[in-house]
Amino acid sequence: MRQKGYFYPDRDEGLTSKLIQEYDETRWTLEEVYVLKSVKKTLGEKEKLGLSMDVGTGLGRLIPFLLSISKKVIALDADLWRLKKAMEAFDSHPNVFFMWRQGSRLDPLPPQTVDFINYSHVAQHVSHPEFIETLGEFHRVLKRGGRVLFLTTHSEGKEKFLVSTEEGAIEITRDEYEELTLNPQPKRLPVRKFDLDSLENLLRECGFEIEWKIYYHIRPEFAPRVKLREPKNPGGDPTKLLETPEKGVEDIIRNLESINADEREARRKALDVALLLRKG
Ligand SMILES: C[S@@+](CC[C@H](N)C(=O)[O-])C[C@H]1O[C@@H](n2cnc3c(N)ncnc32)[C@H](O)[C@@H]1O
Repeated sequence: MRQKGYFYPDRDEGLTSKLIQEYDETRWTLEEVYVLKSVKKTLGEKEKLGLSMDVGTGLGRLIPFLLSISKKVIALDADLWRLKKAMEAFDSHPNVFFMWRQGSRLDPLPPQTVDFINYSHVAQHVSHPEFIETLGEFHRVLKRGGRVLFLTTHSEGKEKFLVSTEEGAIEITRDEYEELTLNPQPKRLPVRKFDLDSLENLLRECGFEIEWKIYYHIRPEFAPRVKLREPKNPGGDPTKLLETPEKGVEDIIRNLESINADEREARRKALDVALLLRKG
């Protein structure tokens, strides 16, 4: 599916950063880094993968992680403005390539050529048909055993559709959501909060096994209050951030792990979920 002149409606007034401010920004970052570190642990110490893709790269913030696990990265986005920003940031990197892509198609990539796909917080902003087609494309381009890191947001139970406005999030109908994804409007970001049972069934139907699942971005009322130094890691492998021997970091991880030990509790207490998928 192709949208005319797509742009990401959150572009320059930072609805997401407003949300992050309600959380603790450092904790927000470290919890995601914990997920990335778990990916590395699953991949093991062996040689780097050949090719990774960052589908919906945005400003390219996760490209350094992908470079830490693979030799080459192809990053793509539908929003030309964001893609240009990412290109500027990785301008002279010989192993990062950019593609402007609208919709779900990943051609000209041939079948079974990709080792790893990062799909971070994109699915919750696209139409349902586009999402299904995208999963089909992932399956086509991935090698056997290739993986997808799928990060998204979920509801505690039934699926919900929202639109973020400057005044906050408003619940909308599914039809309104689909309409907004196809016709983006400034400062009205459509957000789908997945019902995880249906999502997992769908992923399996599309030919993926779920290797693991980690709930993260714990809601403030369920998280430890810690005072941490601002983590510093300009442009490097973000998983190194967890190596800082600070007590607060350990508290954050311990809390994340204990919440994840109980699935129902985790769904209620976390905003986001990470699924590591494997093509069978
Ligand atoms: C919430 S941002 C996430 C950016 C990045 N993955 C991250 O985690 O920082 C969603 C991004 O998905 C992009 N996007 C939406 N639909 C897309 C599509 N069909 N193909 C590629 N990118 C898409 C948007 O332009 C936006 O940059």
